[in-house]
Amino acid sequence: MMAVGRLTFSNITALAPMVRVGTLPMRLLALDYGADVVYCEELIDIKMAQCQRVLNEVLETVDFVAPDDRVMFRTCERERDRVVFQMGTADPDRALTVAQLVEKDVAAIDVNMGCPKEYSTKGGMGVALLSDPDRIEAILKKLVTGVSIPVTCKIRILPTMEETVNLVQKIEKTGVAAIAVHGRFKEERPRHPVHCDYIQAVAQAVSIPVIANGGSSDLVKTNADIDEFRKLTGASSVMLARAAMWNASIFSKQELLPVEKVMEEYLKYAIRYDNNAFNTKYCLCQMLRDKVESPLGKQVQAAQTNAEISEAYGLQEFYQHTQEQQQAKRDSLQTSSQPDRPIMDGDVTTMAVKFERREYPPQITPKMFLLEWSRKEKLEQPLYETVQRSQDRAFQSTVTVAEKKYRSSLWEKSKKFAEQAAAIVCLRFLGIPEGRIGEEDSGLVCKRKREGKMNGTTEEGGSKKRHVVDVPQETETS
Ligand SMILES: Cc1cc2nc3c(=O)[nH]c(=O)nc-3n(C[C@H](O)[C@H](O)[C@H](O)COP(=O)(O)O)c2cc1C
Repeated sequence: MMAVGRLTFSNITALAPMVRVGTLPMRLLALDYGADVVYCEELIDIKMAQCQRVLNEVLETVDFVAPDDRVMFRTCERERDRVVFQMGTADPDRALTVAQLVEKDVAAIDVNMGCPKEYSTKGGMGVALLSDPDRIEAILKKLVTGVSIPVTCKIRILPTMEETVNLVQKIEKTGVAAIAVHGRFKEERPRHPVHCDYIQAVAQAVSIPVIANGGSSDLVKTNADIDEFRKLTGASSVMLARAAMWNASIFSKQELLPVEKVMEEYLKYAIRYDNNAFNTKYCLCQMLRDKVESPLGKQVQAAQTNAEISEAYGLQEFYQHTQEQQQAKRDSLQTSSQPDRPIMDGDVTTMAVKFERREYPPQITPKMFLLEWSRKEKLEQPLYETVQRSQDRAFQSTVTVAEKKYRSSLWEKSKKFAEQAAAIVCLRFLGIPEGRIGEEDSGLVCKRKREGKMNGTTEEGGSKKRHVVDVPQETETS
């Protein structure tokens, strides 16, 4: 696969973050039509921090699932190098926890500093941050130094040009990759004209890319208008919210498609990715605009499930077919769900394995076997990288051997066990003995057994002491 570099924000057109609208189906649709970068809806740090990352094999997505089983954020390989994860936060540490949770699955992290809604501002998030530049600085610095992907932020303009310029210059110093500027004051509503002169002043004051936003109501009606808006604001890039929500084909260089066609394409993605029906409905109603009271609009409003929405658009067959395909996938996963079945998670080979101490003789571990094998093969020593998640403090380790990565999809209670599990995945995938009791004898097992006997321990005696942890001769490389 071709290596893809860091996402850059100069000369791009982006789908803006939009609550309820900017879920996976809309993001994929925007990419299909030609958007370069797609922002997810704003997700609040406290809620995200409780989520677990789950590989959804049926949908082929990565899901971040809340304790109540709600999918807070769903993404897939197709958008990995294009999707920006926007979060609502007022706390540097929490922001970093969430950023690290999603870091491997997204292209950049954005902090929302423009939301005027009370649910944001009362927690010190959104536009409330704009009156606390020290906090902005603390959050952005923490993120920039704590993650390996670009960090950006999205602001509204301040009461004077001078204040706005001072703020963005302060923001630039934190090391962010770009700043999106919604050219409205915090008390202004979407119907108010956008202040292109403020965006222009920002674009002149900083050297990082500025992404102009706020042109949907009066300036950007067609694809050609995007470039006009870019020129008018002197910004490097443009971000569209409502214009894209009303008709996502605005990203296409070709003529705007009829909204009926766009709705159909959107709905197909919503069915394919099992989008929350309430969000699907909301999004379609926004696309229907003044037709929301038409017979179709009324049918959409009355629908409660994606199946019912499909009927309104005559897509029952597509819906049925997709359901059957997914059921077949579910069935085949069920029958082939041996723990050793490898699954690719990006560039990492994963298996669902746990390290069970009792399955190995004392003083024998998979890590040790992997190390010895690597030495024999004249490879570099295996490199372990371990992460800990915040919700239950569990560990997951990835081992790199011969430039390939291996990981267990199951989390372990200690760092050492997580490393052992990663080593098992690598050994099993490569078909190398791992030292398990009952496994065909290998030289290493015999050697350790002899040493064990000399120390007065036998395999049987040792197996009772199953709490014995790692042998000291292992090299910690993580
Ligand atoms: C339905 C909807 C949801 C929005 N949700 C968010 C959000 O989650 N995060 C954010 O930064 N801005 C949000 N916004 C604001 C937009 O990103 C954008 O700044 C604003 O609509 C102006 O851009 P436009 O003129 O292209 O619509 C939302 C706007 C709309 C219409």
